[in-house]
Amino acid sequence: MKSKKTFNKSICCIGAGYIGGPTMAAIADHNHDRKVIVVDINKARIDAWNSDKMPIFEPGLDEVVKRRRGKNLFFSTDIDGAIKQCDIIFVGVNTPTKTFGRGAGCASDLQYWEATARNIVKVANRDKIVVEKSTLPVRTAEAMERILSNHPKFHFEVLSNPEFLAEGTAVKDLEAPDRVLIGGHQTPRGKAAIKALAEVYAAWVPKEKILTTNLWSAELSKLAANAMLAQRISSVNSLSALCEATEADIDQVAKAIGMDSRIGPKFLKTGPGFGGSCFKKDILNLVYICENYGLKEVADYWRQVVLINDYQQERMVAGIIKTMFNTLANKKLAVFGFAFKANTSDTRESPAIAITKLLAAERAQIVITDPEALGHVSGDLGELAANVETTEDPYEAAKGADAIILLTEWEQYKALDYKKLYKAMRKPAFLFDGRNILNHVELKSIGFEVKGIGKP
Ligand SMILES: NC(=O)c1ccc[n+]([C@@H]2O[C@H](COP(=O)([O-])OP(=O)(O)OC[C@H]3O[C@@H](n4cnc5c(N)ncnc54)[C@H](O)[C@@H]3O)[C@@H](O)[C@H]2O)c1
Repeated sequence: MKSKKTFNKSICCIGAGYIGGPTMAAIADHNHDRKVIVVDINKARIDAWNSDKMPIFEPGLDEVVKRRRGKNLFFSTDIDGAIKQCDIIFVGVNTPTKTFGRGAGCASDLQYWEATARNIVKVANRDKIVVEKSTLPVRTAEAMERILSNHPKFHFEVLSNPEFLAEGTAVKDLEAPDRVLIGGHQTPRGKAAIKALAEVYAAWVPKEKILTTNLWSAELSKLAANAMLAQRISSVNSLSALCEATEADIDQVAKAIGMDSRIGPKFLKTGPGFGGSCFKKDILNLVYICENYGLKEVADYWRQVVLINDYQQERMVAGIIKTMFNTLANKKLAVFGFAFKANTSDTRESPAIAITKLLAAERAQIVITDPEALGHVSGDLGELAANVETTEDPYEAAKGADAIILLTEWEQYKALDYKKLYKAMRKPAFLFDGRNILNHVELKSIGFEVKGIGKP
């Protein structure tokens, strides 16, 4: 017979990445009466969480972790021990795009998730609540339940609690989320589990912001939210191409449309395209799911968001080549910014990777500078990395360069001494502002040949 039990207060999270680490730190910070254990198979990552240098750069995260670590927040590689101790188990392992077999390039690779579910069944010592924190295809919980229901004695209630934080503002987003979404079965057991999880968040999130739904709505809402956000970026980027053809200015257009209260101003900034580990993989996953349900038109609609993103990067490089007299061979290009956006060290799916590769194919000499992300350059560029230089110092990067190509909107790039940079460069000195964050009038008066995106 399956046992009935009330749940203890300890919490663990399997997966100590960009999601597991910050989310659990926030929960520990607001629930001093709960023990929070974050576990991972990656020992180096756990060691970093236990050291002075966090494995990820995220403004404000150091303070929260240091405040609670060793008190009620613990990082460990003892996964089985944590599963045994805790009744609420978050699973925040990675769910990358599948690179092999059926659905390769589109579907989610759920092998890490499944391995985790099997391990929970293997080591569990009583009933547990298993919380999907990773972003998963809609109806994953169904498959997971089949694995989890394989236990003769204990019951595992699956909840979906997708995370909506954005890297770069993770601490702020966790502190004051727009909403916390908890999906579960609408059965007595499911409702009890939803209540137990809602109590964790209720320690600091106003009740009206804790939204409960059925399991499938919660799973799909996360994919849908990312698809809608990425769609706004692709929409504005598609219009940036039209601006360049018509002498309209995309920043002026974005401001004008964003002031419409039905549209709103956020996510209307043009740039080199979206990056990060989630948008592309989640949209492709949505596309794959739609195709599987025979919804070809819907799949095509969402796929276009990704295609426009690729197009924006190719278009940018084509513009650079054309402006620099149709050849980049042996020209020195200083790439300012490698992270996929400011305030993060994350470079997964960063537009800078695709753009650097396209520039390298033109046989340019590339120097990359970034305040936080240079550690990823060699991994991200593979063999190509041997021909690319890196430096944290932007002035060093620009020495003797023919062009500066700004790809990440780091605040410090606005405050650089552009007269000094101009002086150190080869002439004519080109500046491609891939984020439209610099003062182009001033730069032109210094002598730069300036190109923004979607600018006349
Ligand atoms: N990064 C974001 O901004 C973000 C936002 C919302 C949701 N998500 C979702 O959260 C999930 C995790 O994303 P992330 O960015 O934190 O990934 P990540 O790669 O930074 O972290 C995942 C961690 O899981 C660990 N792991 C993998 N298999 C394991 C196992 N069997 N046992 C223990 N640990 C294991 C890995 O070692 C890794 O440290 C993904 O599904 C992602 O889509 C991410």
